Amino acid sequence: MKVTSKILGQEQAAFLVRQRVARLATADGEGKPHAVPVCFAMARSSIYIALDEKPKDVPVSRLKRVRNILENPDVALIADRYTEDWGLLAFVMVRGSAELLDPGTGEHTEAVRLLRGKYHQYEAMRIEENPIIAIRPERATSWGALDEPDTSGPQILDTIHGRRSVRRYLPKEVPEDLVERVLEAARWAPSPHGRQPWRFAVLTREATKERLADAMGEEWRANLEMDGQNAEIVERRLEGSRRRLRDAPVLVLICLYLEDLDAYSDAERQRGETTMAVQSLGAAAQNALLAAYDLGLDAGWMCAPLYCPEKVVEALGLDPGLVPHALLTLGYADGDPPKRRPRRPLDDLVVYRD
Ligand SMILES: Cc1cc2nc3c(=O)[nH]c(=O)nc-3n(C[C@H](O)[C@H](O)[C@H](O)COP(=O)(O)O)c2cc1C
Repeated sequence: MKVTSKILGQEQAAFLVRQRVARLATADGEGKPHAVPVCFAMARSSIYIALDEKPKDVPVSRLKRVRNILENPDVALIADRYTEDWGLLAFVMVRGSAELLDPGTGEHTEAVRLLRGKYHQYEAMRIEENPIIAIRPERATSWGALDEPDTSGPQILDTIHGRRSVRRYLPKEVPEDLVERVLEAARWAPSPHGRQPWRFAVLTREATKERLADAMGEEWRANLEMDGQNAEIVERRLEGSRRRLRDAPVLVLICLYLEDLDAYSDAERQRGETTMAVQSLGAAAQNALLAAYDLGLDAGWMCAPLYCPEKVVEALGLDPGLVPHALLTLGYADGDPPKRRPRRPLDDLVVYRD
């Protein structure tokens, strides 16, 4: 989000926009201080905070921060970064005047939209029914390494480097909630027009996995025979593939779903739509692989469904509008994978043009 304000400098605004939590300090009419951690969203000239307490237990008008703001609108909001590497410490403090926005006003609606955009948890909460605190910044102060990337927490680059394709699994069940979290990561992938042109089929039962293996095996056998492979090798490869499907505790079939995409009268733009959908299917798959690794699971990718999508749809009784593309295996690795594909040096892959 682009936030530029006369009061907040660019570094300060960029730092605040990335923070998930801040502390809101208020004071009552006598100046007695009160501070609470808050989630917040930023707009160009205001900072918004939802009142998300259960209204039945504590009417929002009784919340100390609300009573304080009504008695004394002067507030401060501070967001900070603490790490054991003190070279990365930083904070931004905004002082200003707070007011309560009533539901139904345009600014309230916009604030709810911004808060829900930043925190998906608010989607399931009725924050639109309560007033929103709006802070109008008057002064900003900051200190520390605002511009430094925070390298103190779990690092996505470590996950990217650690992930590897696993092809043998322990016979250890994967908890359902972990599978759900992997799918949750997949659904947050970028997609053309935000249309999410993918659907996921989750397979855990032995009989269902066997049905899939049979359907894909038939096609593969025909292809291998067409390539002139000798019968023994064909059987060995088919058995290996069948074993992989059977032994992986969970299979996630990622299907392309094109119905929600834009329809064009010319073939070229239509092709572009489909290509973008396939690109974003790859992004969803990668999100799933990285999330799995982050959650202590291992995963692999099999392309076989791509070569016989109709057979897979039929074998699994899926909606005919789905086009199976990729099959992810999920589970716990049975030992480290024997080999890891080396990567080309960056110099081979990148050109810089000024
Ligand atoms: C589109 C795509 C299709 C793939 N299909 C298969 C497959 O059918 N069988 C398989 O064993 N690995 C498959 N892989 C995994 C790659 O072989 C693997 O990612 C690559 O060798 C690099 O190894 P790493 O994932 O361990 O870093 C596929 C990967 C991608 C991105």
